[in-house]
Amino acid sequence: MALVTSKEMFEKAYAGKYAVGAFNVNNMEIVQAITEACKEEKAPVILQVSKGARAYANHTYLVKLVEAAVIECPEIPIVLHLDHGDSFETCKSCIDGGFTSVMIDASSKPFEENIEITRKVVEYAHARGVVVEAELGALAGVEDEVNVSAESAHYTRPEEVEEFVSRTGCDSLAIAIGTSHGAYKFKPGTNPQLRFDILEEVSKKLPNFPIVLHGSSSVPQDYVKMVNENGGKMPGAIGVPEEQLRRAAELAVCKINIDSDLRLAMTGTIRKFYNEHPDKFDPREYLKPARANIKELVRHKLINVLGCNGKA
Ligand code: G3H
Ligand code: 13P
Ligand code: ZN
Repeated sequence: MALVTSKEMFEKAYAGKYAVGAFNVNNMEIVQAITEACKEEKAPVILQVSKGARAYANHTYLVKLVEAAVIECPEIPIVLHLDHGDSFETCKSCIDGGFTSVMIDASSKPFEENIEITRKVVEYAHARGVVVEAELGALAGVEDEVNVSAESAHYTRPEEVEEFVSRTGCDSLAIAIGTSHGAYKFKPGTNPQLRFDILEEVSKKLPNFPIVLHGSSSVPQDYVKMVNENGGKMPGAIGVPEEQLRRAAELAVCKINIDSDLRLAMTGTIRKFYNEHPDKFDPREYLKPARANIKELVRHKLINVLGCNGKA
């Protein structure tokens, strides 16, 4: 199967009350871990590339790695998506360069400006068979180089979503209901709670329209412990409870973005490996268990959080 857009994936996910996982990719081992788990579990998948990933690994290398995964995993549909496109130019470059889906994130701009830039990206993308994710509302946390403070973060206003979607023509909408980027999402000792009332209001205003959740890592405490026990320092790292993501996936949420959890699995595994084998210096020896642990973590997400196993 060639690369696909997320159109059919989202239609099936909405009707089937599950979500597709969108995992960030930065190198070969991460691409392999995600796609091998999806292939074994027969799950559709979105591989997403941030501006930072393109700066780190180079656009061509990332596209070719994803194309290799398409060849190795012909049984499953794979989307290549730009995560947090910051401008028309970045989106254009990905649309021209083989992506099947882009996100234009103008959520930090005023409403009218967000509409204007999103509509421009949609016109360019749709004319070339590419789909567009947009965002309304602002998540706290770090996205690429932008650090959104908790004070300037705000929830999506349900009264704005209909006008935004009809005027922009976007294909999916990321909303802010209490998730946030990175490994420090909630204050230790508090009770993390997503705003399901906002999600339900939004989905009433946009029937059958796919909603996206960013910042949806759950920050597995086993990996936080592994990091901290092996020379790392990540006190108070906390994520979104997995049961709440599962509930969101049964509602209008069709795409759930997960990046930090994979980073934690990789870093924890590598730290542990070096602590236990101070004499080793072959990168393959530490990347192999890191890749294996990411794969098992992705498998767990597919089955227990997203519910998209067996849906390819
Ligand atoms: O939302 C951001 C993603 O986790 C990508 O992070 O910009 O550090 O590549 P990055
Ligand atoms: P996390 O930091 O929670 O993994 O979120 C990733 C994300 O939203 C990528 O766009
Ligand atoms: Zn994000």
